[in-house]
Amino acid sequence: MARIPASFIDDLLTRTDIVEVIQARVPLKRAGREWTACCPFHDERTPSFTVSPVKQFYHCFGCGVHGSAIGFLMEYDRLEFVDAVEELARRTGLTVPYEGGATRHEDRSDDYSLLDNATRHFQAQLQLHERARAYLEQRGVGAETIERFRLGYAPPGWDQLKERLGGNARPRQQLLLRHGLLIENDAGRSYDRFRDRLMFPILDRRGRPIAFGGRVLSGDDGPKYMNSPETPLFHKGRELFGLHQARQAGTRLPRLIVVEGYMDVIALHQHGCTQVVATLGTATTREQAELLFRNAGDVYFCFDGDRAGRQAAWRAVEAVLPRMTDGRQAWFVFLPEGEDPDSLVMREGLAGFEAHLAAAMPLSTFFFEQIGRDVDISNIDGRARLAEQARPLLAQLPDGVFRDLMLEELTRLTGSSRRPPVPGLSQPGTDVAPGQPGWQRQRRPDVRRSLIRHGIALLMQKPGLAADYPPPYPFTALAEPGAVLLAELMQHCHQRPELNTAAVLEHFSERSEARALSTLAISELPGDEEIWALEFSDVVTRLIQRTDDQQLAELTDKANQDELSAPEKALLRELHQRKSRR
Ligand code: UTP
Ligand code: MN
Repeated sequence: MARIPASFIDDLLTRTDIVEVIQARVPLKRAGREWTACCPFHDERTPSFTVSPVKQFYHCFGCGVHGSAIGFLMEYDRLEFVDAVEELARRTGLTVPYEGGATRHEDRSDDYSLLDNATRHFQAQLQLHERARAYLEQRGVGAETIERFRLGYAPPGWDQLKERLGGNARPRQQLLLRHGLLIENDAGRSYDRFRDRLMFPILDRRGRPIAFGGRVLSGDDGPKYMNSPETPLFHKGRELFGLHQARQAGTRLPRLIVVEGYMDVIALHQHGCTQVVATLGTATTREQAELLFRNAGDVYFCFDGDRAGRQAAWRAVEAVLPRMTDGRQAWFVFLPEGEDPDSLVMREGLAGFEAHLAAAMPLSTFFFEQIGRDVDISNIDGRARLAEQARPLLAQLPDGVFRDLMLEELTRLTGSSRRPPVPGLSQPGTDVAPGQPGWQRQRRPDVRRSLIRHGIALLMQKPGLAADYPPPYPFTALAEPGAVLLAELMQHCHQRPELNTAAVLEHFSERSEARALSTLAISELPGDEEIWALEFSDVVTRLIQRTDDQQLAELTDKANQDELSAPEKALLRELHQRKSRR
């Protein structure tokens, strides 16, 4: 495997702007020196995810995730290390040099071609099985739609796919297992996951199959739908069924309709409406909300009119609120009881379905209707409760006209004009951002921090502090933990004082001390650069004094036992002089 030189990673991370990288995926708000958002890696209502442009580092005080722009892309876009590096290099216009002159290391082409072959296999089987084709025909799905969605059929039997794609080759079977196409039982025997099911390939944004949904042909055969499990390529909360097909026109879509089922997407396509996607058997996630709005300005959420439908719609509200920047609109459509978009479009045609869309409720209406459902706003208590429930939700709205209008509406309904706290502005004049309880505690300096620890913490705040301190670093002779690490860090940062925190962390990421380093990097030291420079100088001076003292004691000890050599005597004299000059 070709390696990427560490110096290239250093360069890349000094040229990258992590705020830009994250902002393109998660809407960030300015809060003092940093940027904040609700954490994209765990569910939360108040933002504890922060991005530091100075350190080029992100950190969530809620769930503890942290890292550089590379780490963020690996987590958020689910990229391998090398792919994340490639992606950042592309943005900054750099070419990744691989040691040994190779161009790429291990890629995922085996995985993608396996899933593509499986799709082809299912497609071919559909042609061979009259019963499956008859089912699609009976549901009104035509040949063109079958082709566009690459629909297929997994025949009955335990090892159809296994035989076809796995053969006896262990590595290929491992690959099938990894992508959830085979299941392994306790005895270590593997068999096909999808049997006698209609197959719906789930395509990624580039149109490559990454997973499958499978529907039984008759009602009494296990769960109606079965999906691939989460795999290295498939994370169901981040994908939308049909997005690739909806985007095939290429341009930004005017609207996207979100429905619940595979067949709803397919039936609407069949009737000529292609701007439709489905979540994959889950409530809409924030990632999906962002994905939807990145593709279309207007998003219509389509649900059953029953209680479960309303609940699902509310989950969608919670997912979209933090994404509602100006220019984006969310709409809610409730279909008559017992109908889904598939049954509706079959019965009433596309015009009938469009009529329901035209009657969609805007987010604001649905929001206040829903939140005011169980409260009586004719009395003060009720209005207070309404305000109490609405505020934390509205606080998640990004700044903008929509947020202002929603707050005005709340004021109108409740007569209360207290605005929800804006993250980061709660304590004017400080850099403290979210109102998390742990926040203050995290930022208080640890007074018991050892000298070496403090030196490392300072360097992690600002690697450039080492610029004035060339090697050698005599304090490596100190019998104290961390002395050697500090010297290594100083040497590295002295050579490359332009490095930011993230680049230094990435450089030392393979080391056993990596965790400790990132903890120190996250800690926010009080003071400013000038103070840090003074403190750092103090740390270095005191460490050298300590080293002198240690050596003085050793030499004195030795002198008491036997004769010192001439250079040792000279050194002892010098150490005494230095000490007296302190
Ligand atoms: P529905 O039960 O509403 O199915 O589930 P549907 O789309 O109307 O299916 P048809 O019309 O009977 O074929 C909606 C979605 O919920 C997920 C699937 O994604 C399905 O499309 N689901 C449903 C499952 O994952 N597993 C199930 O057992 C049922
Ligand atoms: Mn249906």
